[in-house]
Amino acid sequence: MNSTPSFLGRVQEICRDIDQSRTLEALYENLPHYLAKVGGTHTSDTSASVFITIVKYNIAGHTFQIANGTGKYAAAAGSMVLDGPILEHLSNAIRQRSNHYSRDAVTFCFPHPENFAILVYVELAQELDTGAQELLQFVNDKVVSSIRTHSLFKQTVRTGRAMVIALASLAEHKDQDTGDHIMRVAIMTDEIVQVLGELGYYAEKITPEFERHVSTASILHDVGKISISDSILKKPGKLDPEERKIIETHTLKGKKVLEKASRILDDYNYLLTLSCEIALHHHEHYNGQGYPAQIAGQDIPLSARIVGLVDVFDALTSERAYKKAWTDQEAIAYISEQAGKQFDPLVVEAFLKVMEYRRGIVLIQWTEELSVKVRSMDNDHRVLVGLINQLASAEKIGNRRVAESVLDELLNYAIDHFEREEQFLHKSGYPFSELVKHKLQHASFNETIQDIRWQYLHGFRPRINQEVLFFLRDWLSKHILVEDMKYAGLACAGN
Ligand SMILES: [Fe+2]
Ligand SMILES: [Fe+2]
Ligand SMILES: [Fe+2]
Repeated sequence: MNSTPSFLGRVQEICRDIDQSRTLEALYENLPHYLAKVGGTHTSDTSASVFITIVKYNIAGHTFQIANGTGKYAAAAGSMVLDGPILEHLSNAIRQRSNHYSRDAVTFCFPHPENFAILVYVELAQELDTGAQELLQFVNDKVVSSIRTHSLFKQTVRTGRAMVIALASLAEHKDQDTGDHIMRVAIMTDEIVQVLGELGYYAEKITPEFERHVSTASILHDVGKISISDSILKKPGKLDPEERKIIETHTLKGKKVLEKASRILDDYNYLLTLSCEIALHHHEHYNGQGYPAQIAGQDIPLSARIVGLVDVFDALTSERAYKKAWTDQEAIAYISEQAGKQFDPLVVEAFLKVMEYRRGIVLIQWTEELSVKVRSMDNDHRVLVGLINQLASAEKIGNRRVAESVLDELLNYAIDHFEREEQFLHKSGYPFSELVKHKLQHASFNETIQDIRWQYLHGFRPRINQEVLFFLRDWLSKHILVEDMKYAGLACAGN
């Protein structure tokens, strides 16, 4: 008999554990440990062998890869389930979309609305009676509702961010050749905030709320440029003082737009508050010589001090119609020299550390050997190389938020680049059959990244592991050296 008070106690304990998981990733990582309590013989026995697997519904049949486990499955992460009776067990659970019981095992099945299920296989020390099985239905309900709550929250945050990116892109596209400036700013803002935290600076200002929102808020820093006329924004030569003044109003205009948005929300909205202060103050200088308010030092909101520096770094290291891109070293020298003048010295210190982290992890180095002799394509490839390195660095320092943003950016940039490249090939008279093959390679890369990102966002991949990073590095370098290099000749021939 299992449906004894002690079994009920175990079920209650498991439900409490589930409540305590703060994120989806934590829930999936810990679920095998929680459910191991079902397999043991008494309350504190958690030695049962358990594994978790995530399965997309597929009418053609299912394969099961172990995500993580306990007991004899503790070291089995990544391996496929091959044992016949266990495969049968898992298949039954997925077919019924509910728990499946046998004498010596139970497979929990937690269906997810997005066309997949999470299965947890637990080896039992003793058979579970129907009373125990009924009790375990509580566990199922708890897990399913917890997954739904975490997913909804995540979805809401990501929807907000996507809308912010769409809005900011409108302003950015007016400003021509800035590329993916806003996303780079968002990523580096997050990195600097993390390092400020590590250094113990501004601990009272860097609250979990600040950490959560500042990178998204930074995306809107130039939103006020929407209202600046193209004749000034896109003027090729130097601006006269009058025009400079007009450009400077983008700070006030941005703040106004965002203030208006924040009035729509009845409650205090931290994301919009941060966005307003960043839009208004990201051109202030630490010594009070910036604009528009000419405030100085700690009077400038911390968010704006961080974004102000990141914005300058990105502008310096990007190519513009009127200037070449500075090297990282040149930009670092300028920013260091401006510590205490244009920039907050503590933010400069954190920035230098971020650059040190980035330099420490170079998976793939851009070299002339990778040049396909088409300037725009080389630029694109350079960005992709940079993003793969950034992903590696985000993973190394364990910043999930940054890794998520880089992954989003990598996917978006790859899609855009492939489109540009395919158009270029089409116009250059690249042989049709070759173009088809080339396109297929692009499509399969996109699909793989999409899959990796899907797993990462749904919490099934606690980390982007080495295997994935090496895959990205090898794919890109091989693709450029073999496939893309085929059009290098065409371009040289003047097409
Ligand atoms: Fe600006
Ligand atoms: Fe290509
Ligand atoms: Fe390419």
